[in-house]
Amino acid sequence: MMDESPSPLLFSSGTRDLTTPHSRPEDQAEEFFSLRPSSLREYIGQSETVETLEIAIAAAKKRGEPLEHVLLHGPPGLGKTTLAHIIAHEMGGRLTLTSGPALEKAGDLVGILTHLSEGDILFIDEIHRLPRMVEEFLYSAMEDFAIDFVFDKGVHARSHRFRLNRFVLVGATTRVGLLSAPLRDRFGLFRSLDFYEETDLVRIAARSADLLEIRLHPEGAQVLARRSRGTPRIVNRLLKRVRDYAQVRGDGHIYGKTVHEALALEGIDALGLTPLDRRYLRTIAEFYGGGPVGIEAIAATLQEESDTLVDVVEPYLLKTGLVVRTSAGRRLGAQAFSHLGSGLREVEGRK
Ligand code: ADE
Repeated sequence: MMDESPSPLLFSSGTRDLTTPHSRPEDQAEEFFSLRPSSLREYIGQSETVETLEIAIAAAKKRGEPLEHVLLHGPPGLGKTTLAHIIAHEMGGRLTLTSGPALEKAGDLVGILTHLSEGDILFIDEIHRLPRMVEEFLYSAMEDFAIDFVFDKGVHARSHRFRLNRFVLVGATTRVGLLSAPLRDRFGLFRSLDFYEETDLVRIAARSADLLEIRLHPEGAQVLARRSRGTPRIVNRLLKRVRDYAQVRGDGHIYGKTVHEALALEGIDALGLTPLDRRYLRTIAEFYGGGPVGIEAIAATLQEESDTLVDVVEPYLLKTGLVVRTSAGRRLGAQAFSHLGSGLREVEGRK
């Protein structure tokens, strides 16, 4: 039975009507409606993932079957939710969005599953945070499109199988290692999304600028791409900050110089690092002599959640070699020390 607690359903829609009372605030933002690509053809970057999905979707359509369940793994902002929207659009199914932590009880999940129609897409974000009791209901739902209810206990126990419509689960996670093997093994398609190449981010910035009617010059797009930590969500967010700056302090056009000036105000340095990234690096450098140091010690010194550091801050620093993970903990890469010096001068020297 569902109780009075907030709905675990964060968003549910057809592929056209995207306004519902349950939609997430960030999904109501302008970029949700205009900047997300709605087809694989429009999608820039992640070419292997796009090709895998193109083949799987075309094959499923040919056979008249729903797509196999899809697991997407990677740091935040790389397009996991966007791909779920695209899958729904390409397969012609309705999309329901929820997340692991929002599904507190088995009833929350059952309520959603029993409302799915044939070919609908269920997107579960942060699927590694699904409570174990809820996860166990998902096994038979994914494998047999059925859920088993057990009534009574002991010798009186009876079970009843409830049939579901054949749906497609798209799971997203930043921590694939935390997924249990039974859950992981029930996904037919598994793709890891990696940080985007600078050239792809330039194209994404140009596309977004076009849609938002922003006058972004090639050099402006280049600088923006270089400072977006390989992440489309960041490129689009920074584009809007730079647009504001260009309209108020400039002539409305975005040149390389405009991006430099606007991002310095945001505290974003030449490598695209944020104030939190630099606090993280500086903590290892100054409190722990460059490391190695455990993540819990860094989190305690910074007074941040270690999950935030692992999911949001570390992936890009590890990718660029500014931080190295060893069995003894995190330590700074050689270029982190020189960057900290110059990065500090550039951003903090403004004061
Ligand atoms: N906007 C955000 N991510 C995108 C992508 N990968 N391709 C095109 N536009 C995008």
